[in-house]
Amino acid sequence: MAAAARGAPPGPGPVSDAPILAIRNLSRNFGGLRALDDVSLEVPRGAVFALIGPNGSGKTTLFNVVTGTLAPTSGTILFQGEPIAGAKTHEIVRRGIGRTFQNIRLFTRMSVFDNVWVAVRTPRGGDRARSETERAEALLELTGLTAKRNELVENLNFGERRRLEMARALATEPRLLLLDEPAAGMGALELERLTQDIRRLRELGATIFLIEHTMDLVMGVADRIAVLNFGHKIAEGAPGEIQTNQRVIEAYLGREGSRA
Ligand SMILES: Nc1ncnc2c1ncn2[C@@H]1O[C@H](COP(=O)(O)OP(=O)(O)OP(=O)(O)O)[C@@H](O)[C@H]1O
Ligand SMILES: [Mg+2]
Repeated sequence: MAAAARGAPPGPGPVSDAPILAIRNLSRNFGGLRALDDVSLEVPRGAVFALIGPNGSGKTTLFNVVTGTLAPTSGTILFQGEPIAGAKTHEIVRRGIGRTFQNIRLFTRMSVFDNVWVAVRTPRGGDRARSETERAEALLELTGLTAKRNELVENLNFGERRRLEMARALATEPRLLLLDEPAAGMGALELERLTQDIRRLRELGATIFLIEHTMDLVMGVADRIAVLNFGHKIAEGAPGEIQTNQRVIEAYLGREGSRA
């Protein structure tokens, strides 16, 4: 992978075999707290890559740094081979990174359709063959919300709200989609649906970077998993390796917090 990245031509566009996202020696301090401590990882293009770890281990902070909500204290982030650390959020969205939030962010007094339509109207550029309305309708279809299109968001259940967040994140047509605890608050049926949705998005060509505590989901969809503990990456590997990693079991999987 490293050789392919070095040999790649400069400029935008897909680079075969290179990771879509490369995080190198990333740290972020909050006063005296080191929320991320020298974290390096690479998200392969087309993969579902999961980030797990105990509460407060730095997972959301990592997403916030990648999406420009927070500046890194030190370290580099390459998206499609280009440095993005410290760039503004709108610039990062324009380049092709979308996200959902751990604490759902929706316009609760607006309809489902209008929430998606607003997101579709702030695209990352380029000519569009389809109208904004058609694109919004397609996203509702993709996320299974067509029947709820005229409903106010305040009347949706948790699972529907999380799906609407995903529809809004997909409106910018991201190459990389960051999902921060998409299964939080979901029942078993909704979880099954989410598992299928993530698999389908990957089949459609998206790369997914997933933070999640629900181990059924992580082990069911992830190609690769990295584990944070107190801001350090303590392990990375395939699901089977992570499940049997003694350090991970002691720090996280063996605890109640893992909600396995
Ligand atoms: N804006 C901030 N200011 C100060 N401290 C922060 C800030 N954001 C996060 N922290 C601290 O950084 C550490 C990592 O927090 P973070 O939210 O990244 O954890 P997390 O792994 O996402 O946890 P959870 O699983 O509970 O969502 C915590 O100690 C948290 O209190
Ligand atoms: Mg978090």
